Amino acid sequence: MKAPLVITLHSPQGGSGKSTLALNLALQYAKQGKKTLLVDMAGYGGLPAMCKIPIRGSGLSSLITVLEQSVELPNYDHFAGYFKDAIVPYKDIRDFHLLLSASPLKMEKLSSVYTDYLIETAKKEDYAVILVDTSSELCERNIACIESADLLLIPTLQDVASGWKVILFKEILASLHIPKEKVYLIANRVTKYSGFSNKEFQEEIGFTLLSEIPDISKQVQRHVNSGIPMDLSGKRKVSAMFQQLAQKIMLQVV
Ligand SMILES: Nc1ncnc2c1ncn2[C@@H]1O[C@H](COP(=O)(O)OP(=O)(O)OP(=O)(O)O)[C@@H](O)[C@H]1O
Ligand SMILES: [Mg+2]
Repeated sequence: MKAPLVITLHSPQGGSGKSTLALNLALQYAKQGKKTLLVDMAGYGGLPAMCKIPIRGSGLSSLITVLEQSVELPNYDHFAGYFKDAIVPYKDIRDFHLLLSASPLKMEKLSSVYTDYLIETAKKEDYAVILVDTSSELCERNIACIESADLLLIPTLQDVASGWKVILFKEILASLHIPKEKVYLIANRVTKYSGFSNKEFQEEIGFTLLSEIPDISKQVQRHVNSGIPMDLSGKRKVSAMFQQLAQKIMLQVV
């Protein structure tokens, strides 16, 4: 069995589109027939609301309880049963599974050891792609998600504050010894009015800018509130945009 591709979405800038991109990319890969797991590692992330799936008591919550009650890390075979029970299918899309987050307070229990163990468990299942959505703070859990990724996608906004945070984050990635080749920027909510040049920023920071996603506030808001992701909304242009991004990401995998 081929190891799944682990893609983490993280950005030091909150609200930059991590969850929106994670959900829409997961849909794309599932539509291509790649069995996909979306792991919600963000305590306050928007995924449960975006997906309109109730989370209480299941998902990561039940897995964290099992880990806390174990004296040492459980045997993978034994834990796999709990893991399978914690996963929910995404609506009626066969190849798309979700592992939803626990409450923000319970997510704080995820040390780097627990987070690594959970991602390792996911990798032993038969997924082709594992997408990991994170929150923006620098904590053990998010660092473990960054370190275990094959590709790290950093959504950024077109403003100097967001850019500055990415410059600071670059130093952190260097101290974690994350190779530059694994890191890609995605400029999100791009408009021609911002006066911010993504190309110049790319040159300055030295990470590849993989894509520029336009600001599509009207569509996004309506679809987030209805629980139907843009990709499933019948908007061909939007769907084609995420399809292209999903393809570009796959081309980066060596
Ligand atoms: N391309 C886009 N055009 C317009 N609005 C967008 C776009 N991408 C995301 N948004 C909106 O921006 C807001 C933040 O997006 P999202 O929740 O995906 O960001 P996030 O990085 O996951 O945030 P958080 O740090 O809170 O987890 C949401 O209201 C979302 O609908
Ligand atoms: Mg989020």
